[in-house]
Amino acid sequence: MTPTPHIGAQKDQVAKKVLMAGDPLRAKFVAENWLKNPVLYNEVRGMLGYTGEYNGQMVSVQGHGMGIPSIGIYSYELFTFYDVDVIIRFGTCGAMDPNIKVGTIIIADSATTDSNYGYQFNLPEGYKATASPELVEKAEQVAKELGYDYIKGCVFSSDVFYDESGKQKAMWVNDGVLAVEMEAHALYTNAFAKGKKALTILTVSDNLTTGEEMPSEQRQLGLKRMIDVALGI
Ligand code: HPA
Repeated sequence: MTPTPHIGAQKDQVAKKVLMAGDPLRAKFVAENWLKNPVLYNEVRGMLGYTGEYNGQMVSVQGHGMGIPSIGIYSYELFTFYDVDVIIRFGTCGAMDPNIKVGTIIIADSATTDSNYGYQFNLPEGYKATASPELVEKAEQVAKELGYDYIKGCVFSSDVFYDESGKQKAMWVNDGVLAVEMEAHALYTNAFAKGKKALTILTVSDNLTTGEEMPSEQRQLGLKRMIDVALGI
């Protein structure tokens, strides 16, 4: 069933390995700066997707928007209708632990949530979804080879960016969560349900405990490192 309601591409236009970013313009930037001969395959809703060559292999890079419902739709369609084998999300997160500095790379081996996304697969509310262990191991290997410091652990995929209750932070810290973002849980759940592989690599853009924020110069470096790791896998 391609094209889908959200991806205007034929099946063979999308590679079996897809990198995904929340911001479609970030997907465009990666396609134009890392891939050889990138071809635009999707413009539906401005959620740009490109396929190009990296080290002789076809790779796609596509936007996924913000939050669990949005990445839920795109990753479901890629796994189910485009037969994509591997999705690697790269993005930013807010750290919980005051000792985690902005700019730190986090390899998210698992993701808890306040979402009930897993109900559709009869999974219990708030269960911990896991990344593909094989991809986690490879990401660690690549990061080490490149000399990039990283932390591996659990993140929290929240449905809420502006938490007026103030309750969430305590909940996350108690769970031993390293950082908060808004998508990994849905990506891992879809991969689990479809027998596929998924990973999320993050750069800490802000620390929710200390209030430290990443300067914009550092954002490009963080992006470069995540892409180097994601493409090196
Ligand atoms: N919350 C959710 N997602 C994020 C944050 C945050 O504070 N920072 C970066 N991504």
